[in-house]
Amino acid sequence: MTPASKGHALNAQRILLCVGGGIAAYKALELVRRLREAGAEVQVAMTAGAQQFVTPLSFQALSGHATRTSLWDSAAEQAMGHLELARWADRVIVAPATADLLARLANGHADDLVSTLCLATTAPLSVAPAMNHRMWLNPATQANVAALRERGVQVIGPDDGPLAEGESGPGRLREPDAIVAELAAAPVEPKSVAAAAPGGALKGLRVVVTAGPTYEDLDPVRYLGNRSSGKMGFAVAAAAQRQGADVLLVAGPVHLETPAGVKRVDVRSAAQMREAVFAAFPADIYIGAAAVADYTPRVAAASKIKKTGESLALDLVRTPDILSEVAALTQGKLKLVVGFAAETDNVAGYARGKLVAKRLDLIVANRVGIADGGFESDQNAMTAYWADGERDFPSAPKTQLADDLVALIVERLNA
Ligand code: PMT
Repeated sequence: MTPASKGHALNAQRILLCVGGGIAAYKALELVRRLREAGAEVQVAMTAGAQQFVTPLSFQALSGHATRTSLWDSAAEQAMGHLELARWADRVIVAPATADLLARLANGHADDLVSTLCLATTAPLSVAPAMNHRMWLNPATQANVAALRERGVQVIGPDDGPLAEGESGPGRLREPDAIVAELAAAPVEPKSVAAAAPGGALKGLRVVVTAGPTYEDLDPVRYLGNRSSGKMGFAVAAAAQRQGADVLLVAGPVHLETPAGVKRVDVRSAAQMREAVFAAFPADIYIGAAAVADYTPRVAAASKIKKTGESLALDLVRTPDILSEVAALTQGKLKLVVGFAAETDNVAGYARGKLVAKRLDLIVANRVGIADGGFESDQNAMTAYWADGERDFPSAPKTQLADDLVALIVERLNA
C-alpha cells in the first residue's frame, strides 16, 4: 500500500464512486476498500454496462451502503434521492471511466443515473479512464478529456501496459492505491468540516452525547454486552459539532475514531457511563444514543466462574437509568433531553411510553433486530416523537440521519 492510502488521507470525506462499464470495473471493488481504509465514506453508483461486469451486491458489501443503479428505483429514491446523493458527496470519482462515459460527461448528458449525478453535483469530479489504447488515443477521446480537464476535472491515468485484449499501450486503469494517492494529493474540504465553521446553529452550546454499548463484567473474562457499534451516537456527536456545539462524547467500548473536534471519554460499564455523564455537566443538551445495559451482575466474580452444574443462574440487578436521572435531576437546567428507543416491535407505542415515563423532550425510535438498520449497520430508519408531534426519517446513512436529527433538535430548541 502506498503511504497516501495508509492512515487517513481522505478522512471524513464522503466519496461517490461512479463505476463505468468496462472490464476494469472489477478493480473498482478494490478501490472501494482502499478509499475506506483511507478514511472515506463511500457510496457507489453503477452504469448499466458496469453491472454486466460486477454485481451491485459486491459493491454494497464493500461500501456498507446500498448500491445505486437506476434513476428510476423508487425505493432507493425514497431513501436518498439522486440529487440528494449528488449533494451528499464531497467529491465524485468515475472509475473506470470508459470512452463512452467520458464523451457523455464532456457533453453534459444526463440520460442515466451516473451521468445525471456527475452533472448535478457541485463536488470536485475526478475520472480514471480505462479502455483499449486505440480508443484512448483517438482524437475524439482526447478532445473529450481535454474539455473535461479544462473544466477542472481531475484526470487520473490511464497507465501504460498490458490491456485486457492481449494488446499493450496506454489505457489501463490506474491501480487503486495510486488513485487514492492522487485523490489525496488534490485535497477537498469535507462538507462536514466546512459546516463546522463558527456560526453553526448550536454555537455556544455544550452537548453531551452517549454512544455504543456498555459491558457488564461477570468475571475477569466474561461480560454481558449488546450489539451497539456506536455508529449512530458518533454520527450525532459529529453532526452537533458541525453545528458549532462544544461536544463531549461518552463512549462505551467501540472501535470508532473520535469525530474531529469532539471531546471523548471512554467507559465500559453502565455505572462508569453514569459517572462520566454527570461529571460532564453543566450542559445544555443531553442525547442518550448509547445502548446502556438494563441489568448488571450483583457482584462481578473476582476469578473465572467455573463450570460446575448443568445450568447457571446469574444474579442481576437493575442499572441506574442514566437518561431518566438526567431528565429528573437537571429539570429546567438542560435546554433539551433527547433519548433513543431501540425496539423490535410496537415501536411507536413503547417510544411514546418512554418519552413520558422518562420525562424527555424528544425520543428517537428505531427498529432493531432487522437486517439493514438498527444496530451495527451504516444505515437506519427512525421516527422522532415529542409531546405534540413526530417526524419520520426514512432509511438513510447514519451520518445523514444524524444531520437531520440535529436539524430537528435545533427546531425543537427554538420551538
Ligand atoms: O450503535 P449503533 O450500532 O449505531 O446502533 C444505534 C442504536 C440502535 C444503539 C441507537 O440508535 C439506539 O437506539 N440507542 C438506544 C438503545 C437503547 O438502549 O434503547 P432503550 O430503549 O433500551 O433505552 C432507552 C433510552 O434510555 C436510551 O436513550 C438509553 O441510552 C437510555 N438508558 C437506558 C438504560 C439505562 N440504564 N440508562 C439509560 O440512559
